[in-house]
Amino acid sequence: MASSAQRCDETQAWGSLRLHFEAAGRDFDVRDAFAKDPARAAAFSFEAPHVFADLSKNRVDVQADRLLLQLARDCALEAQRDAMFAGATANATEGRQVMHWLLRTPKDAAAGKEVADELAKVHETLDAMLAFAQQVRADGQITDVVNIGIGGSDLGPQMAVIALDEFVAPGKRFHFVSNIDGHELASVLRQLKPRNTLFLIASKTFTTLETMTNARSAKRWFEQNGGTDVARHFAALTTNVEAAAEFGIERTFGFWDWVGGRYSVWSAIGLPIAIAVGAGRFRDMLAGAHAMDQHFQHEPLERNLPVRLALLDVWYRDFHGFASRSVAPYHSALRRLPAYLQQLEMESNGKRVDRDGREVPYGTSPVVWGEPGTNGQHAYFQMLHQGTDVVPVEFIAVRRPAHELAEHHPQLLANVLAQAAALMRGKSDPGGHKHFPGNRPSTMFVLDRLDPASFGALIALYEHRVFCAGAIWGINSFDQWGVELGKVLAKDIAPRLQSADTNGLDPSTAQLIKR
Ligand code: F6P
Repeated sequence: MASSAQRCDETQAWGSLRLHFEAAGRDFDVRDAFAKDPARAAAFSFEAPHVFADLSKNRVDVQADRLLLQLARDCALEAQRDAMFAGATANATEGRQVMHWLLRTPKDAAAGKEVADELAKVHETLDAMLAFAQQVRADGQITDVVNIGIGGSDLGPQMAVIALDEFVAPGKRFHFVSNIDGHELASVLRQLKPRNTLFLIASKTFTTLETMTNARSAKRWFEQNGGTDVARHFAALTTNVEAAAEFGIERTFGFWDWVGGRYSVWSAIGLPIAIAVGAGRFRDMLAGAHAMDQHFQHEPLERNLPVRLALLDVWYRDFHGFASRSVAPYHSALRRLPAYLQQLEMESNGKRVDRDGREVPYGTSPVVWGEPGTNGQHAYFQMLHQGTDVVPVEFIAVRRPAHELAEHHPQLLANVLAQAAALMRGKSDPGGHKHFPGNRPSTMFVLDRLDPASFGALIALYEHRVFCAGAIWGINSFDQWGVELGKVLAKDIAPRLQSADTNGLDPSTAQLIKR
């Protein structure tokens, strides 16, 4: 958004949406809408690569829909999207391009002059990384792969290795260590032997306190337990090649400052995935994501799924005032998806100023949370059905299972459909504890099966949706200054835990240090 462009709350569409919300949006009942319009289910359903999405149970009528699309146009969403894909400096506060999409662009794709050189580098690194992955897969001596990284250098590969479990080579175990809490690393190290272990030190910056502390401890453990060949047993995944060399690592797979940490699963940070599922399937994952990139770039806004989802996010957050969204994947292999989305969405769009630094008078990122179904049903779904807050729910159903246990999958699918229907329908028991208000919104994604390509497409869909919401809100979705203050204070506090010096601290922190 150029400084002169209109901010979302200053557009005509925003004003019209406000009026429409007061007149019809607040009291909109999706049950009435279905009764009046038998074609509603089809009209509010969308096909994108590998993902079918039924948005018809959401609180949107034709007028809101029209105005939301107008809002996207008033906010120059298409121009912002095209600028990102042309290699513009979309992350202005850090002076960086935003090109994670290039990591999944085929080698022979027509690329503008701006990005052609980068694309060549991407494929050179990808080829080298995948060759190494194949080598590790064939190396029977390596039984354990330990990824040491945090945030984007942990959540993506960890989620993917779990999600693609069906395709993971037998004979290798994968471990993910992120926390500076030594319990995590200690419990993994207890299971390992140095000669059978490959450590991947994953850090975009190679300076992150947690990762460097864990990496040093892992190296010390390796050497103290008879490990001799650091070059064979450690590799680095980073943009900071010099720091990795200083640490004593010879084998480094690089990436670039135009890949945000939370968008880096497609880069060298994806090496654990490639070792787990193999080079061909890693490429399938990239191809699925690329297909979604193409959808996002070329489908008209009306049929553009990331755009549609983002418009719903804005409508719910800023007009209905819904402050959170729950994600319920009905596939246990997607159990780390909610954690991944927490970083993707909340670190990207949890911002309180627009790109010009002006405080925004509207809500941005909702709280994103969830658990796989059906577990969530037996825990917090009570609140979704009968609580005082309305929480839009996003269900993910997968048609075909990866197992042959006859009874389970039909029951699982029956449950996901039943929950969405129950949230919408409700049940009348006036004045009673058994009353369900209904009209509770939900979206249903359907994947044919969970495989590398559909997984890649699903994650890219979420990335673009976050981009679109951020573009409409006029914020920079690609920086994360909000994580800095805590890091600085932790540096100050660490030595005080030894010295008990509480000078200059607030009384509460001082008291806690003494304790
Ligand atoms: O502190 C937040 C953050 O910078 C995330 O954005 C990032 O994914 C994570 O830390 C890890 O950073 P790195 O990959 O540089 O270690």
